[in-house]
Amino acid sequence: MWSERQAAMLRAMGLRLWQPPAGEAEVPIAEPAAGPPAPAVEAAAPVSLPVAAPPRPEPRPTAGPAAAAPPRPAVTPPAAVDLGAVSGLDWQPLREAVAGCTACALSQSRTQTVFGVGHPQARWMIVGEAPGEQEDLRGEPFVGPAGQLLDAMLRALALSRAAEGEPAQRVYIANTLKCRPPRNRNPAPEELQRCEPFLVRQIELVQPRIILAMGRFAVQALLRSSEPIGKLRGRVHRYQGVPLVVTYHPAYLLRNLPDKARAWDDLCLAAEVAERGGS
Ligand code: URA
Repeated sequence: MWSERQAAMLRAMGLRLWQPPAGEAEVPIAEPAAGPPAPAVEAAAPVSLPVAAPPRPEPRPTAGPAAAAPPRPAVTPPAAVDLGAVSGLDWQPLREAVAGCTACALSQSRTQTVFGVGHPQARWMIVGEAPGEQEDLRGEPFVGPAGQLLDAMLRALALSRAAEGEPAQRVYIANTLKCRPPRNRNPAPEELQRCEPFLVRQIELVQPRIILAMGRFAVQALLRSSEPIGKLRGRVHRYQGVPLVVTYHPAYLLRNLPDKARAWDDLCLAAEVAERGGS
């Protein structure tokens, strides 16, 4: 059932190898459906949205975005601010603008915003979908079971989300949405559109050599494509000139073991591109 290579990779990820009982046919596992017609996410026009007044820009932080900032209390009085202004923000004011955002209804149900984590000059940028329950509670992306799988895959490539260290061995992780959708429902097109300037700015600040887009919402946000992951993976795309590799979302991989080998191939492709200097 598993090739030697797949088995070694799965073992490296701490996963038990499942074998069908003798005589039992293997059940084919469907690739993730393209899903309901993907909401066309239009380019976010710089619109005025109600977000809490952004704090005054502060000097560039030395410790990076993942420095242990305590969860911020919910910012209450919404004030009009142009999200276009996000495009000029440095890390700390950007983090505070996210913490105070009330641009969509998710701000009312979140425990806290989930900004992003990792090295501010990481070579790799990893883009996921939206915080889940544990991320909402902890204020950090990918800390639940999907995050543990992601960390294991990164470890196998000697990569980590630590905020300090050698940028070549570091990743920065962010989601398309900074707030948890209630009951982990899919992000809505308007939520994606309103949250997008934050992700765009994070990518601009990190200036990664490679972007790994995980799952269909990351792909929609960055490539404006609603093609299934299976059709987009295995080659190098571009986002604003930065090489981008598409792969399966780790939460999907937890349910579809055989696709882990494909995801591993995607990570290896991304690693090759990052190694080559992003060309
Ligand atoms: N899934 C995501 O896409 N992001 C998270 O932060 C957690 C789970």
